[in-house]
Amino acid sequence: MEIFKEIDSLKQRLQKLRSQSKTVGFVPTMGALHQGHMSLVEQANKDNDITVVSIFVNPTQFNNKEDLEKYPRDPDADFALLEKNSCDIVFAPSVEEMYPEPDTRVFSLGKVAEVMEGKYRPGHFNGVCQVVSKLLAIVEPDRAYFGQKDYQQIAVVKAMVRKYMPDFEGEIVSCPIKREADGLALSSRNVHLSPEQRQSALLISKTLFEAKKMSDKGASQKQIREFIKQNIATDANLCLEYVEIADSDTLLPIPGDKPKNAVICITVYDGKTRLIDNILL
Ligand code: PAF
Repeated sequence: MEIFKEIDSLKQRLQKLRSQSKTVGFVPTMGALHQGHMSLVEQANKDNDITVVSIFVNPTQFNNKEDLEKYPRDPDADFALLEKNSCDIVFAPSVEEMYPEPDTRVFSLGKVAEVMEGKYRPGHFNGVCQVVSKLLAIVEPDRAYFGQKDYQQIAVVKAMVRKYMPDFEGEIVSCPIKREADGLALSSRNVHLSPEQRQSALLISKTLFEAKKMSDKGASQKQIREFIKQNIATDANLCLEYVEIADSDTLLPIPGDKPKNAVICITVYDGKTRLIDNILL
């Protein structure tokens, strides 16, 4: 496995590989890697000749300084896990390398970036678009892999690529959420949970699975939303930030009573840790 910290040397290496007709799969990450990331690496390995993983805690997507400082970082463990999972190339740049000057670009993507996370984390998706557009331009992958746990992020990245990177020829591939055996969605933030909070967190996925069953049996959006609110409120460690039932493509509210082609997106504070999850209906 090769590790690059500089853009120019990575680009040169990738140019050489492309001249040998190698296809490139790319998995952008912020490190603190877990099996959810490894499922993306596995998919990239299957679909491409070369897998590139970036590790970069992108400061521009944090709207909260404390959250940025607290974000878990363990590069040596990350490199070891990537090596074990047959990653070919790691790109681990410094902040100065990625942002020699402040990135002042503003991405205007409309509702898809304004609802849900866009509303509660203002500026977050603009930062994601800044870094993802830079990374895609550097790596020029045939395919870039994103996990569906960040459901809205995938919709935003696709919209950004369509509008702002018309020459990008790669594919944005979305991969299913990876869960622990007991249902908890894998997340780098789970390391912040105490054993008791981790137990509480299980109620989030359990509630989503129940909500899907309700929807399958014909429940209305209102009934599902009420059920979710009440269920989450039964655990004193949990505090619901939002739950939305939205069109799975546009992320806009669904007209009518019954959710069709929908996704439920939920954000819950478990103690001080902000957890997100979702389920397709
Ligand atoms: O999902 C993440 O880890 C980040 O938002 C991403 C896509 C790596 C951009 O920093």
